[in-house]
Amino acid sequence: MATAIAHPNIALVKYWGKRDVDLNLPSTSSISVTLDSFQTQTTVRWDSPRDVAWVDGKPATPADAKKIFKHLDLITPGRPTARVITKSNFPVAAGLASSSSAFAALTIAAADAAGERFSPEELSCLARQGSGSACRSLWGGFVEWRRGLLNDGSDSHGLHLAPRDHWDLRIVVAIIDGGQKKMPSTKGMIHTMETSPMYQAWTLSSDRDVSEARHAIMERDLESLGQAMERSTLKMHATMMTADPPIRYWKSTSVWAMDAVEDLRRQGISAWWTMDAGPNVKILCEAEHAEHIAQRLRVLVDEVLVLKIGEGPQRVPDDEEALARFVVR
Ligand code: PMV
Repeated sequence: MATAIAHPNIALVKYWGKRDVDLNLPSTSSISVTLDSFQTQTTVRWDSPRDVAWVDGKPATPADAKKIFKHLDLITPGRPTARVITKSNFPVAAGLASSSSAFAALTIAAADAAGERFSPEELSCLARQGSGSACRSLWGGFVEWRRGLLNDGSDSHGLHLAPRDHWDLRIVVAIIDGGQKKMPSTKGMIHTMETSPMYQAWTLSSDRDVSEARHAIMERDLESLGQAMERSTLKMHATMMTADPPIRYWKSTSVWAMDAVEDLRRQGISAWWTMDAGPNVKILCEAEHAEHIAQRLRVLVDEVLVLKIGEGPQRVPDDEEALARFVVR
């Protein structure tokens, strides 16, 4: 048995599109920052007469259970039947990167429970196969996921760029809608690849954003990082919106929030927005400006949180109370 905690990550340069759908190999490299406070805690125990999973206190849906146990099969082929108890402390499937923390925590808990010793890069490759972005949640701070060239995906994993204390930034999260996203990311990516005339331009132009963002992180240059991030965000959403039929995750409030951030910028505050596969807006800024930005956004959005940069995953003692509550008879 084993329990692990992992934090979600937000892409600064985006991943949208796969060169191999089964192995979750991306068409482009990407860069992320790991979040503090938001987390998923997952326990894996081999003490169950059959495979059973609980997600956030409820029995997993058949679709979620299928994904969880397929992932356990990948990590420990020929495994015993298992009990999996997982909970996240933030809205799931709302474009807040919940699948990244979920598959990172599940990968580590399952490998530990099986007594398997993997390097962080090997764990990152395994997590990637559950959900692409999860391969970036194996480290805290700033992480790059290299696209890789090999067909088996063994060179497509996260690389640690800098730890959380490298740069004291904040991520202000405006939760415009905490509900489940209207199209899951894999489905959205495949549809975009198949139908958007912008897709090829996106893959060809992304490397420049990756190198600029990497350099900006190393130099602690927020303006260059912000520009690369907004550029990558807009290009990714342009491919989605020009798919046929289009996918639009933005809501009017998302655009108001972006306008507010750009107004603040004109007043001299270095603040930069991004969005993923949902309407929620995340703003990257210096620690000293975070509360001011959050106050401004609270005029438009009910729930606005200020998060720090988070650390990598941790192994933690089993949650005995949860284990006693979720028993298979
Ligand atoms: O890892 P997935 O399949 O949930 O895809 C993540 C896609 C985005 O969040 C939109 C971008 C990214 O790089 O995280």
